Amino acid sequence: MELQKPSESNLPLYVAALERELDEGHEPFHYSLEIIEGAKKDPSALIATFDDPVGGRLITVDAGMQRAALPSFTRWLYDGEICGSIQFRWKPGTVELPPYCLGHIGYQIFPWKRGQGLATKQLELMLGLTRNIELPYVELTTTLANVASQKVIRKNGGVFIKEFERAAEYGGGMYNLFRIDQS
Ligand SMILES: CC(C)(COP(=O)(O)OP(=O)(O)OC[C@H]1O[C@@H](n2cnc3c(N)ncnc32)[C@H](O)[C@@H]1OP(=O)(O)O)[C@@H](O)C(=O)NCCC(=O)NCCS
Repeated sequence: MELQKPSESNLPLYVAALERELDEGHEPFHYSLEIIEGAKKDPSALIATFDDPVGGRLITVDAGMQRAALPSFTRWLYDGEICGSIQFRWKPGTVELPPYCLGHIGYQIFPWKRGQGLATKQLELMLGLTRNIELPYVELTTTLANVASQKVIRKNGGVFIKEFERAAEYGGGMYNLFRIDQS
């Protein structure tokens, strides 16, 4: 079990998993189609977006809005297949995040791989990488209903901070905020 850095050699495995997710009728993430298209058109440009220490390119955030991307990097959990993906994004020099960004770390596990402790492992492995970035803590958010994700965070040392309402312009909704200490 390891986190893999996205590259042109493992991209086909990731795209095949995204396509399987769509074929099986699971709700796609807003980025799934963009990635499938990007992999066909320009794989090396797509791969560059998965390891972006500078940021600044326009990305679609929730509610269809476009914003400048924060610096970020993505890793894929691999156990012989790609199990899921996890992304870390941050604003250099501060622990603060812009209001459209729901936490420093976002992740998903493909539906056929869920319920085996893989999201918990994926976050544990990512925290081993984020500790190299100087931030006193990382913030993670979940919807109030996402009990599985709340457990993943708590099992990795996450401390519940508060419930908050997301600004209406970014789609609204109630969320839980957690912090994981990095000091
Ligand atoms: C949330 C998600 C990442 C969990 O992935 P996973 O690999 O199934 O999680 P794990 O197997 O590590 O499970 C973590 C805990 O949640 C529990 N859990 C898993 N699915 C659950 C569910 N549907 N309802 C309640 N608890 C659940 C597990 O039993 C485990 O708890 P335990 O250790 O007490 O048994 C996955 O469901 C997913 O990708 N969902 C869609 C994207 C998403 O919600 N991402 C997170 C955004 S904040």
